[in-house]
Amino acid sequence: MELSGLPYAVMPMAKRDIPTVSQIEREVFSLPWSSTAFRYEIERANTACYLVLRYTPWMIDEEETSWLAPVRRVLRRPAFDPSLLGYGGCWFMVDEAHISTLAVRPAWRGRGLGELLLVSLIEEAYRHQVNLVTLEVRVGNLVAQNLYAKYGFRQVGRRKAYYSDNREDAYIMTTDPIASPAYRRQFDTLRDALRRRLLAQPNDPPAEVSEL
Ligand SMILES: CC(C)(COP(=O)(O)OP(=O)(O)OC[C@H]1O[C@@H](n2cnc3c(N)ncnc32)[C@H](O)[C@@H]1OP(=O)(O)O)[C@@H](O)C(=O)NCCC(=O)NCCS
Repeated sequence: MELSGLPYAVMPMAKRDIPTVSQIEREVFSLPWSSTAFRYEIERANTACYLVLRYTPWMIDEEETSWLAPVRRVLRRPAFDPSLLGYGGCWFMVDEAHISTLAVRPAWRGRGLGELLLVSLIEEAYRHQVNLVTLEVRVGNLVAQNLYAKYGFRQVGRRKAYYSDNREDAYIMTTDPIASPAYRRQFDTLRDALRRRLLAQPNDPPAEVSEL
C-alpha cells in the first residue's frame, strides 16, 4: 500500500528484528513462537513472507555511511526496538497464501495498523499470484475474526482442539479467489479507505509509550 505521507513503513522482517518480534510474540500470544522459529521462517524467502511494521519517526538510520556507522548502530540500537509496532507472515503453498501470524503491539491497536499489515500480506499474495488467502483463528478471537471478515474471509471449516494450550477450536477462514474482479474491487476499496483513515488520524504515539 502507498504509505507516502504516513509515519509508517512496512518492510521484510530481518534477523535483527527477531529479538523485538519475539518479545511482542510473548506478550501477545499464549503459544508464542520461538526466535528459532522466526529465524527459520525468514530464511524461506521463496515460500514465505514475513513483514514488520515500523513507526518511521523512531527508526534508526541504517543508511549512515561514515566509518563509525557500524559502531554507532550497535550503540544506538536498543535491545527492544520501539519503532517495531507489529508483524505478520504468510506461507505460499501451491496456489494458496496461508497467513501464519499477525500481531500489533497492544498500545498501538485500534488505529488501522493490523489492517495495514493484513493489506500488505494480501498484496504479497497478489504478487505471488495465488488463488486465495486462508488462515486459522481461535473461535474466541472475535477481534481478529472481524478484521478478516472485513477483507472477505469466510468461515469454511473448524479444527477441533487446534490450540494445545487450552484445546480451543480454530475456524478456518478463507477468501474467494483474490484475482476475481469482485474481490479485487472490494480489496481496492478497503485499501483506499484505510489510507484515507490513516491520513486523517493523528499519528502521534499513544500516550503510554510517548517517552522512549
Ligand atoms: C488482531 C489485531 C492484529 C488487530 O490489530 P489492530 O491494529 O488493533 O486492528 P485495526 O485497528 O487495524 O482494526 C481493523 C479491524 O479489526 C477489527 N477490530 C479491531 N479492533 C476491534 C475490537 N476492539 N473489537 C472488534 N473488532 C475489532 C475491526 O473489524 C476493524 O475494522 P474497523 O476499524 O473498520 O472496525 C490485534 O488485535 C492483535 O495483535 N491481536 C492479538 C494477536 C492476534 O489475535 N492475532 C491474530 C491471530 S489469528
